[in-house]
Amino acid sequence: MSANNLPAAPRSVARAINVEDLRQLAERRLPRFIFDYLDGGADDEFTRRHNSRAFAALSLIQRVLVDVDTVDTSTTILGMPASVPFVLSSTGASRFFHSDGEMAAARAAAKANVIYGTTSSAMYSLEEVASVGSAPRFFQVYVFKDRSVTGDYVSRCKACGYDAMFLTVDCTMAGNRERDLRNQLSIPPKITPKTIWHLLNAPAWTLDYLAHPGWRFPNVEGYVDESSKGDFNSAAEWFASQLDRSFTWDDAEALCNDWGGQFVIKGITSVEDAKIAASIGATGIVISNHGGRQLDHAPTPLEVLPEIVDAVGDRLEVLVDSGFNRGTDIIKALALGARGILIGKAYLYGLAAGGEAGVARVIEILKTELERNMMLMGLRSIADISSDCVRWRDSRFLP
Ligand SMILES: Cc1cc2nc3c(=O)[nH]c(=O)nc-3n(C[C@H](O)[C@H](O)[C@H](O)COP(=O)(O)O)c2cc1C
Repeated sequence: MSANNLPAAPRSVARAINVEDLRQLAERRLPRFIFDYLDGGADDEFTRRHNSRAFAALSLIQRVLVDVDTVDTSTTILGMPASVPFVLSSTGASRFFHSDGEMAAARAAAKANVIYGTTSSAMYSLEEVASVGSAPRFFQVYVFKDRSVTGDYVSRCKACGYDAMFLTVDCTMAGNRERDLRNQLSIPPKITPKTIWHLLNAPAWTLDYLAHPGWRFPNVEGYVDESSKGDFNSAAEWFASQLDRSFTWDDAEALCNDWGGQFVIKGITSVEDAKIAASIGATGIVISNHGGRQLDHAPTPLEVLPEIVDAVGDRLEVLVDSGFNRGTDIIKALALGARGILIGKAYLYGLAAGGEAGVARVIEILKTELERNMMLMGLRSIADISSDCVRWRDSRFLP
């Protein structure tokens, strides 16, 4: 144990053997108020904790004496070919974690042929992210009061070849993240005795921040008043003031038609909403509780995945996220009918710990775990993963 009571973390991303190691490296490198923003959840963080624990409710069923000399983890998600069934999900403001932010994640994803998603609240523009490699990618939008902005995103994404558009619908307002309230998180960081203390305890991050000034939200700054263009605070305020709470399914349908390609609604947790998504022409949904950052006590995706797949699995692709940290987690969701898995915090820990190399390490760890567990289960390809691979654990055997 170290002085702050954490188990010893590896000294470098190369030595990290699992996602938790990278989480600990991130915790050591980031100022507390940034780490808590990354790691925290809403209210009591019940959903945030339960997301990962819920995987214990399923056991994996192994088949033996199968030729698994080679296994193939490649798949296709929403028509996009990828080396693995997991996707790096859209997460805003990635330069909080490392100065290379979204570009580092996009590069690591492209090199490993992993699908990457960027967002309207990214800190590199959607055009900059699109210039990285040739792996498939998606753009995620929130809907702004000024609808012409969303329309503009559609044209910009088409112009630079995005393969899919995701609409996030579980953020009518930010969740109640109490760690951020206690840390008096503000963007950019306000200089208080507490933040100074946090910054002094994170010298590597602080030096990186000082050497790469000028945080921006380039995907929105073009829409902010001419007079305050390029000003970080104005962009952040514009963003918050533009989130549209009166947005409904009719607007989602209009956006889906406007885009006209692979269109995914992210943040679904009920069968009813999944059915409406299918009826308006969405080609996919993400069952998600936003990693426990929005509505505390929202269901964990595993709880609702089977019934949603039953209801709409023949009409659209069902993706899932929240709490995925292990190769076995991924196999369990695929076995329950998910087409693909989005990961959020797991790759951001890698980004915080080591930029592009850290994200690459997370991809490598999850892919290796997936391959190893597929071999142990007698599964040669992603198509071999079926409901026969899992069973719900009898409550007597729950941890
Ligand atoms: C720091 C952070 C920022 C995020 N920003 C966005 C965002 O801008 N848009 C979005 O759709 N989801 C966002 N998410 C949610 C992720 O896309 C994803 O749904 C979630 O992280 C999955 O859960 P996990 O973190 O347990 O893997 C964010 C998540 C984190 C941790």
